[in-house]
Amino acid sequence: MDFDMMSLPPAVRVSVFTRVGLAEVPMECPQAGYVAMQQQHEGGLLCPMDGIAVSFGREITDYVLRHHELFSSAVDLPLGNVRPLIPLNVDPPKHSKYRKILDPLFAPKRMDAMEADIAERANKFIDEFIERGECNFTEQFAELFPSAVFLGLMGLPWEELHTMLHLRDGILHPEKIDPAAVTDPLVSFAVMNATGQEIYAFFNEHLDAREANPTSDMLTHFITAEVDGESMTREEVLDLCYLFLIAGLDTVSDSLTCLFAFLAQHPEHRQQIIDDPALIPGAVEELLRWETPVAYGVPREATQDVTLPNGVQVPKGMVITVAYGASNVDPGEYPDGFDVRFDRENNRHIAFGGGVHRCLGSHLARRELRIALAEWHKRIPQYALKPGHEQLEFPQGLRHVKDLTLSW
Ligand code: HEM
Repeated sequence: MDFDMMSLPPAVRVSVFTRVGLAEVPMECPQAGYVAMQQQHEGGLLCPMDGIAVSFGREITDYVLRHHELFSSAVDLPLGNVRPLIPLNVDPPKHSKYRKILDPLFAPKRMDAMEADIAERANKFIDEFIERGECNFTEQFAELFPSAVFLGLMGLPWEELHTMLHLRDGILHPEKIDPAAVTDPLVSFAVMNATGQEIYAFFNEHLDAREANPTSDMLTHFITAEVDGESMTREEVLDLCYLFLIAGLDTVSDSLTCLFAFLAQHPEHRQQIIDDPALIPGAVEELLRWETPVAYGVPREATQDVTLPNGVQVPKGMVITVAYGASNVDPGEYPDGFDVRFDRENNRHIAFGGGVHRCLGSHLARRELRIALAEWHKRIPQYALKPGHEQLEFPQGLRHVKDLTLSW
C-alpha cells in the first residue's frame, strides 16, 4: 500500500487494516490464526498502530459490545455515505428510538410470512443451472438470491435486480467498477462516493412513489412507522435504506459461499442434513459460528479513558474493532471450538454481533440461509468442488469464496 495510513482518521484506518487482512490470520483458514492472536497478545488485544486496536478475545469483545456508553459506534466509515448510517452509527438513546420502530418490522413472525416467497426466489435461480450439472455458485446463486429477496422485502420490481447489484458493488466491491481500487484505497473511496449519490437518488425516487401510493411493503412501513407519535424524516429513511443495501445483501451472499464451500468439502456433514433436514437450523448456526463471514465489527471509539477487564488501559479516542470470528472459536467459550457439530447445544456465537447493535436482519438472514440449504439439498443433494476448481480463493473484505464452482 503506497499511501500513508496515518493520514486517515482512526476508524477508517482500522477498517482498511481489517479489510486488507492480517498476515497472521490468513483469509482462507483464519481460525487457527485467531487463536494464535489470542495467545500472543494480552487479553487478545492487538494494537497494530497508534490509536487503533483489534480485540481477538471473547471477554474484551463482549465488554466492548455491551458498554455502548464507553465505546461509541458513531464513527465515520468510508462507505460513500454523507450522513451516519441508521441505526449502525447512532448511539443510545437515539439508537433505541430507531430499534423500537424497526424491531417489530423484522420480528420472526413477519419473516415467517416471507418464507414461501423466499423459497420461490431460491428455486428460480436453481432452475437456471440444475440441468447443466454445474454452476459458478458465487455468481449464479449466492450473489443473486439475497438481492432478489431484498427486492421482495422492499417492494421493488424484479427488473431492479441489476441496479441493486450495481449499487452494492459500487460500495462493497469498488474493484468491480474500477480495478485500480484493489491496490489504491483513494480510487476505492472515489468509486464509493459516486455510488453513494446514486443510492440516495435511487431510494428517493422509490420513496416519492410510496408517498404518492402507499403499499404494504417495507419502504411504506419506513415512511409511516411511528414511535412515541414521531415518524422518521426523509433523510432518516434514506440513511436506513442505505444501510440495508450494505448490510443485507453481501452478508448473506458471503455466508452462502462459505456454507456451501464447507458442505461441498465435507460430504459427511452434508449427508447429515440430507438424512435429517431438521438439522438445518443447527447447521446454519454452527457454520455461521465456524465461518463468521462478518469477521470484524464496526469500529468503536472510546468516549473516555477505560480500563478493560484484563487491566489494559484504553485512552479516550482510541478506536477498537472486535474480531467476531475470533470470539467464535475462543477456547474460553468453546473448549471444542474446532469441532464443527450441527447438534451443538447452547451455541452462543456472535456472528450477528452483540449488544444494542446486534444484527437487525438476523431473523431474515437465518431464514434465507435455512431455505437456501433446504431447497438446494432437496434438488441437488450430491455435489462437490468442480474438478480443476479445488483451490478456493478468499479475497479481502468480508469472508467469502470467489467463483465457488460446484458440479453434480
Ligand atoms: C448472514 C447474514 C448476516 C450477518 C452475518 C450479519 C452480521 C451483522 C453484524 C455482525 C452486525 C453488527 C455490526 C457491529 O455493530 O459491529 C450487524 C448489524 C446489522 N445488520 Fe446484519 N448481518 C446479516 C444479515 C443482515 C440482513 C439480511 C439485514 C437486513 C435486511 C441486516 C441488517 C443489519 C442492520 C440494520 C444492522 C445494524 C443494527 C444496529 O446498529 O442496531 N443484516 N449484522
